[in-house]
Amino acid sequence: MLKDTLLSLSQNDRFREFVLQNKIARSASRRFVAGELLDEALHAALALNKQSIQVALDLLGENVESEQDARNVTQDYISALDLVAHTNLEANLSIKLTALGLDVSRDLCEENLDAILEHGKQHNIFVCIDMEGSDYTERTIEIARRAKQRYAEVGTVIQSYLYRSRADVEGLCDLSVRVRLVKGAYQEPQSIAYQQKREVDQSYVESMKILLARGNFPAIATHDEEIIKEACAFVRDHGISKEAFEFQMLYGIRRDLQEKLVQQGYNMRVYVPYGAQWYPYMMRRMAERPANLMFVLTNLLR
Ligand code: FDA
Repeated sequence: MLKDTLLSLSQNDRFREFVLQNKIARSASRRFVAGELLDEALHAALALNKQSIQVALDLLGENVESEQDARNVTQDYISALDLVAHTNLEANLSIKLTALGLDVSRDLCEENLDAILEHGKQHNIFVCIDMEGSDYTERTIEIARRAKQRYAEVGTVIQSYLYRSRADVEGLCDLSVRVRLVKGAYQEPQSIAYQQKREVDQSYVESMKILLARGNFPAIATHDEEIIKEACAFVRDHGISKEAFEFQMLYGIRRDLQEKLVQQGYNMRVYVPYGAQWYPYMMRRMAERPANLMFVLTNLLR
């Protein structure tokens, strides 16, 4: 119930404006967001690299409504690629297709994506296409598959709460497309998505095993300790190298577990979001865990 309310509010323009103007909410957002500027993201990324944790940089922003905005975001992503290359940061890039203009036109979005991937190719930097709400699932997978025919260093995300996820994972494995497996962060109806945590987890574990057994350097992106233990046991029992996959977590979440996995010799990558458009991202993090809402409210009341 609270989760649904927070996810609905994440799409509410008036509430977004109210929160974005609020200084205290902005400072509370730093719990999950590296900052509003690329330099701040660099600072956070360098600190993680020092702890032997790799980074996925994510410029926040989604659902841009004009061609010019989509081109501006594309340039910002390209600047992030340049920064990674010039600073030798252990980082790759995560992008959202609706930030590249998918709501304006698919051609525009693919043109912008090509510009980013071309730039990524020059620097040999991997680019992951994030998965958004289910209106975009089919198009995102199609675009990722097409991009993979032209660029080696591109992958996408599969959400285990969707009934279709297992078939998508198998299809992407067949094409050697790199997959980041997540549970899914949006509000989806029962007609297409599991609603119970137990079912989402079970679907996650099924897809995870397929990816670990035959995926192309999959990313097991979760903070769920039980699932992480199951992944570790699965690779040990099947003789799969720790070098063949990576764990991923979100900035500011379960730092203890991030460090522990690094100490155990696993690859760990942390998703570092930055930018002025942090509102929907922060609302999704609060929807995942009510304690995060309490954290923000406590700051607001201080
Ligand atoms: P689950 O929600 O079951 O939580 C398991 C445990 O993890 C909790 O008990 C708690 O201890 C901890 N935890 C989880 N979320 C927390 C939070 N917000 N704050 C504090 N503790 C928390 N989604 C999507 O739809 N598209 C995408 O492209 C991505 N990309 C992405 C990248 C990376 C690197 C990660 C880790 C996640 C995503 N996600 C995503 C988000 C994902 O779908 C999911 O919503 C979150 O990861 C939370 O799910 P968990 O797997 O952690 O499990």
